Amino acid sequence: MSDAHILVSREGAIQIARFNRPDKKNAITRAMYADLTRALGDGEADDAVRCHVILGQPGAFTSGNDLADFLAFATTGEMGTEVLDLLRLLPRLRKPLVSGVDGLAIGIGTTLHMHCDLTLATERSVFKTPFVDLGLVAEAGSSLLAPAMMGHQRAFALLAMGEDFTARQAADAGLIWKIVGEATLEGEVMSTAERLAAKPPEALALTKRLLKGDRGLLEARIAEEAELFADRLKSDEARAAFMAFMARKGS
Ligand code: COA
Repeated sequence: MSDAHILVSREGAIQIARFNRPDKKNAITRAMYADLTRALGDGEADDAVRCHVILGQPGAFTSGNDLADFLAFATTGEMGTEVLDLLRLLPRLRKPLVSGVDGLAIGIGTTLHMHCDLTLATERSVFKTPFVDLGLVAEAGSSLLAPAMMGHQRAFALLAMGEDFTARQAADAGLIWKIVGEATLEGEVMSTAERLAAKPPEALALTKRLLKGDRGLLEARIAEEAELFADRLKSDEARAAFMAFMARKGS
């Protein structure tokens, strides 16, 4: 098995990208963002690919952005473009994006699904965005997408309160499509992707575009959030939160 932190594979017309950093609960580093962006871009460009799939590991989809990277941004001010490159690509995907979640889905591990077309998750999955507790703001267009999806109050509970959402709450809020068993998760994700891959691709791409709505509005919100987020990363509130996490973990 490869030691790459993003594993990319093909099964027929489906391209699978899998978070593969289980010792860090799949926390996403700058290099992982770059690899995921590259994989999705390659899949978009390849006519043989009809559907994207994103998976994690048993127990951890992802614990979100690597907090050591956040601390490095906070202290050096050096942001890099990797995160934003992914966030800019997500609204531009023409092909369907299906995700499968088991366990932790934190930060972008939650907001990513707002860009997916179908998300399947196990009962024990937990969706959480502790942005405010980290001194940060909502990202990935979630400040626009979440209220539209679930209404202001649930979006506020998720994005501002940092409440844990169970899989059932996530399904009720429209963040995920359905709850499946742990043993069947990946099989059901793949059969869902196969069904999508078998459909007329142009009709599917147009339908996706219509359902996703005004991309310009979303892109503008992603840019606005990113600017605030970058400022917040350098704030005393954020620095203190990252250092507290590092100290707790002794890393
Ligand atoms: N960034 C960097 N490292 C992370 C991480 C993250 N987002 N999430 C987990 N890790 C690391 C831990 O530091 C630990 O590393 P170590 O073994 O070298 O000490 C390892 O992954 C296992 O995590 P641990 O905290 O021991 O597991 P847990 O089951 O007790 O808790 C979490 C898991 C995800 C609840 C907890 O690690 C956590 O709160 N992580 C931060 C989540 C977060 O705030 N993400 C950013 C969102 S914007």
